[in-house]
Amino acid sequence: MHQDCERILYTEEQLKARIEEIAIALNEDYRDKRPLVVGILKGSIIFYSDLIRKLTMPVELDFMAISSYGASTESTGQILIKKDLTADIKGKDVIIVEDIVDSGNTLYMLRSHLSTRGANDIKIVALLNKPSRRKVDLEPDYKCFDIEDEFVVGYGMDYAERYRNLPYIGILKRSVYEK
Ligand code: IMP
Ligand code: MG
Repeated sequence: MHQDCERILYTEEQLKARIEEIAIALNEDYRDKRPLVVGILKGSIIFYSDLIRKLTMPVELDFMAISSYGASTESTGQILIKKDLTADIKGKDVIIVEDIVDSGNTLYMLRSHLSTRGANDIKIVALLNKPSRRKVDLEPDYKCFDIEDEFVVGYGMDYAERYRNLPYIGILKRSVYEK
């Protein structure tokens, strides 16, 4: 384990097993569809690549990079799109793949933004969910795990752009970000 981690929260094996369960649900729910699977950069990349390889329906892939603009909790809040989708989403069944839903602000705004672009349906798949931190009415439609209010890294997730390549999810030592 990395020395900056307090403990491992989910091992590679636990993640693999849970992702297979999520994929089974998606394969059933999207059996006759052809969804556009949108990965939110950069945190979702490892989860995204593991998940899509377990999907059996035809999928289209795309990516966005976004950040929330200020701390607005209103539906009028704005997101800053740093990298946009490459194709039109009108009429598409969109599956957003995100690393972690915290306050929910970012996805709340992204979801309403994408619906104004004419998506037929938008669902959210999250690797992790921190329900105790939620500030807006947003729940992931599919999620691997609910976690406590702790700062996690690895498996795509960072602290100051570090630790994304750890193959497991670890709880970051407080001393790393409180010094
Ligand atoms: P939200 O808009 O507050 O839901 O922000 C969610 C985003 O915050 C995630 O996509 C992550 O980039 C980041 N984030 C929240 N909690 C953590 C964490 O524990 N570790 C790493 N990134 C986190
Ligand atoms: Mg993120």
